[in-house]
Amino acid sequence: MDPKRLAGKNIMITGAAQGMGATNAEYFAAQGANVCLGDVNVDGVNAVAARINEAGNGKAIALKLDVTSRKENADAVAATVEEFGSINIALMNAGVNTPRMFMDIDEDNWDMIMNINAKGMLLGMQEAARQMIAQGPMDDHPYKILNVGSIVSRTAFLDVIPYSCSKYAALAMIIGGAKALWQHNITVNGYAPGVVRTELWEQLDKDLVEIGMFEKEGQSMDHLAETMITMKRYSYPDDVKGTAAFLCSDESDYMTGQLIMIDGGMIMQ
Ligand SMILES: NC(=O)c1ccc[n+]([C@@H]2O[C@H](COP(=O)([O-])OP(=O)(O)OC[C@H]3O[C@@H](n4cnc5c(N)ncnc54)[C@H](O)[C@@H]3O)[C@@H](O)[C@H]2O)c1
Repeated sequence: MDPKRLAGKNIMITGAAQGMGATNAEYFAAQGANVCLGDVNVDGVNAVAARINEAGNGKAIALKLDVTSRKENADAVAATVEEFGSINIALMNAGVNTPRMFMDIDEDNWDMIMNINAKGMLLGMQEAARQMIAQGPMDDHPYKILNVGSIVSRTAFLDVIPYSCSKYAALAMIIGGAKALWQHNITVNGYAPGVVRTELWEQLDKDLVEIGMFEKEGQSMDHLAETMITMKRYSYPDDVKGTAAFLCSDESDYMTGQLIMIDGGMIMQ
């Protein structure tokens, strides 16, 4: 790994207390990036930031961020700039899922998922872009906004429809955002993990048993690997971090409006 590949990049990451957000943060910092970690789980982001600062390459700060609050998104951007001097990249990673069969989707389930995954993403994109626009061109490289999509940005399953709607929204904001923001030297891309063993999926696995999709806990990931994933295994955050880092690096400068699948060949288009 090149410890300087992301040197000079100041990156805000939402939902960075655990899972892929935390793994990416540590990986980016190991390549020289400074990272601002926001999450509703403040103890969690503080612990990740402490690990990064102890490791001693890129620096980290951590703060409370509920992505459904415009003010807290703006505060996270402001903290990034105050600490590191500017913001170059914003990674919209915070996300939640609670499965429901179609006829059992209620307003609470819809609102909770859409508010965090879709509205929270829009607010984060806007507040990051507002600062990037104010900074103006800083070097030869574009600013970057990255949205985390999913396999269900490209298809839908019967038991996670609000989540799928939110991840289609992530794709719509990549495509529309790319067209809207290039005039300000900002690219918008994203990546779409498949089945990733994180706390999110551990909870999903339990919830899928509760709604009757699986008989026993621990079946869902293996079942999907066996029946739907070309590479016949589910993934871990380490499988995702390389593509995420590439999208933060100068090597992806001539890309915008793209959602890259990282799913072991689950969805091919
Ligand atoms: N795990 C998977 O299989 C999978 C697959 C495809 C996409 N994704 C997406 O990847 C992203 C990361 O998922 P993960 O699996 O690492 O999940 P995770 O549950 O391990 O981490 C998500 C983080 O988001 C935080 N969060 C929740 N609500 C928030 C809010 N309102 N404001 C700020 N932070 C909030 C949580 O506290 C948590 O730290 C999410 O967008 C998720 O939808 C996950």
